[in-house]
Amino acid sequence: MLDISKLTFGYGSAEPVLENVSFGVERGEFVCLIGPSGCGKSTLLRIVMGLAQARSGIFKLDVDRRDVGFLFQSNALLPWRTARENVALGLRARGATRQAAGVEADHWLESVGLAGLGERYPRELSGGQCKRVSIAQVLALKPQLLLMDEPFASLDAIVRRYITEDLLAWVESAQTTVLMVTHDLEEAASISDRVVMMSNGPRARVKATFDVPFGRPRDLEHVRESRGYASLVARLWGALSEEIHVPRRSAQPAPAALAA
Ligand SMILES: Nc1ncnc2c1ncn2[C@@H]1O[C@H](COP(=O)(O)OP(=O)(O)OP(=O)(O)O)[C@@H](O)[C@H]1O
Ligand SMILES: [Mg+2]
Repeated sequence: MLDISKLTFGYGSAEPVLENVSFGVERGEFVCLIGPSGCGKSTLLRIVMGLAQARSGIFKLDVDRRDVGFLFQSNALLPWRTARENVALGLRARGATRQAAGVEADHWLESVGLAGLGERYPRELSGGQCKRVSIAQVLALKPQLLLMDEPFASLDAIVRRYITEDLLAWVESAQTTVLMVTHDLEEAASISDRVVMMSNGPRARVKATFDVPFGRPRDLEHVRESRGYASLVARLWGALSEEIHVPRRSAQPAPAALAA
């Protein structure tokens, strides 16, 4: 569904952020994109969305742009619209009547665990509930390709786990193709089919790809207890830590002026 080959991109005339990036995503595949902070993962996603254009290389997207859904880390809900209206927006834009869109929105709100909360405004919902509204919003449009940029990063561990499980169940049943950026190696190792790891920037490229050896439908609890999972997480940590150079604290004493 997505084919990227030797893609190079830079902002303005600056040094390239991405250089010779090559990878693909098969129809129905769930791919996680990981890499050091600032290497260009969000930039790559923006290129896939059509919001930025590569300087050179091959970029092929075999799906209508209207069938591509986005889910971002930040809350993109309209504060002056209720949860139902927020979910209904995209459906209305596609020509659904107000009533039909409302009924459909309620269905999706129910399926993300927010039955009965359609009348609430975003300010009356918790962060996790707002995230569920955003998920309902994107799923209601039944995307063939779902692009996500650290969608769960701001959520606490428990809510994150529930939401991830729900989303995974939906993606599996609808056979949606997913490309998701995450910093969470355990998340990548448990939910995806393949992990694409980028090298450190500038001039970041694909450092390695890792096949995830678990089938579908997937029981995340079961996966996390398996030996294959632990060894995959260890391999991801090893490869990523080669790219991240944490500056060591200097052993030098502080200058006298600072120490005073
Ligand atoms: N609009 C912009 N103009 C110029 N440089 C930019 C712009 N947006 C991002 N950059 C630079 O491009 C590089 C890649 O940024 P990007 O946001 O894609 O990284 P990332 O891998 O998503 O990082 P993180 O994991 O922290 O979200 C960074 O060095 C960043 O400073
Ligand atoms: Mg980013």
